[in-house]
Amino acid sequence: MKAVLGIIGGSGLYNIPGFENALWQRVESPWGEPSDDLLIGEIDGLKVVFLPRHGRGHVHSPSAINYRANIDALKREGVTDLISVSACGSLKEEYKPGTFVLVDQFIDRTIAREKSFFGTGCVAHVSIADPISPLLVDVVEASCKAAGLAYHRGGTYLAMEGPQFSSKAESHLYRSWGCDVIGMTNMPEAKLAREAEISYSTIAMVTDYDSWHADHGNVDINAILKVLHENVDTAQKLVLSVAKSLPREHEECPVGSNSALEYAILTAADK
Ligand code: ADE
Repeated sequence: MKAVLGIIGGSGLYNIPGFENALWQRVESPWGEPSDDLLIGEIDGLKVVFLPRHGRGHVHSPSAINYRANIDALKREGVTDLISVSACGSLKEEYKPGTFVLVDQFIDRTIAREKSFFGTGCVAHVSIADPISPLLVDVVEASCKAAGLAYHRGGTYLAMEGPQFSSKAESHLYRSWGCDVIGMTNMPEAKLAREAEISYSTIAMVTDYDSWHADHGNVDINAILKVLHENVDTAQKLVLSVAKSLPREHEECPVGSNSALEYAILTAADK
């Protein structure tokens, strides 16, 4: 199977210059409206598809994003490998603002979102034990290394509902659970990517220390935007570098991302 790279851009990342033959195109989905049109182009012969998660102009809050329509639209464009670039808060002293964390686990504390393509009519339970595809992270990590970035491979991302940030008590609780970073968008995105049999990996860009930290008092949305703007160029270059080195033939995911539905569907075939 030919690889197609999808990129979901988080806060601050609304475009990726450098795609060849790039066109913004509307993609229809029976699940509703995706966050925006998709930027579809090529890099060295690889089809690449970019979707700004919050829409250009940042018009959808984390709870208002139609995650099902987004993942479905990317699947319809043939995406096999999906990189989510996401701003996050740090729950660890060593992950300073500006660090890139290549997370490998999630805790889902979101409560007000559609989380599955399967409901009435067809029931499926996919495994999410290993939500991140290690082969894709290998490519991302190699690009981080080549660019000399401050990055860390591995870590747990706590997905919260928002839109308010966490209280100190919540932030300390998540630290006591061993979480590394906190954000508002990677769930249910990662779960839906697995249901769509798309390999998924997150580049979590640390923009701030969460409220547990003494420095948090200095953090407001302007401070977060400042870090985002300082890093957006780096994130764009990172994505282009990943696109250049991603194998052109999609490799079978060792944690089952591309065969997630094989043993997941409970509904009888003749129903
Ligand atoms: N996104 C960026 N910083 C965040 C934080 N501290 N908590 C939740 N989401 C975030």
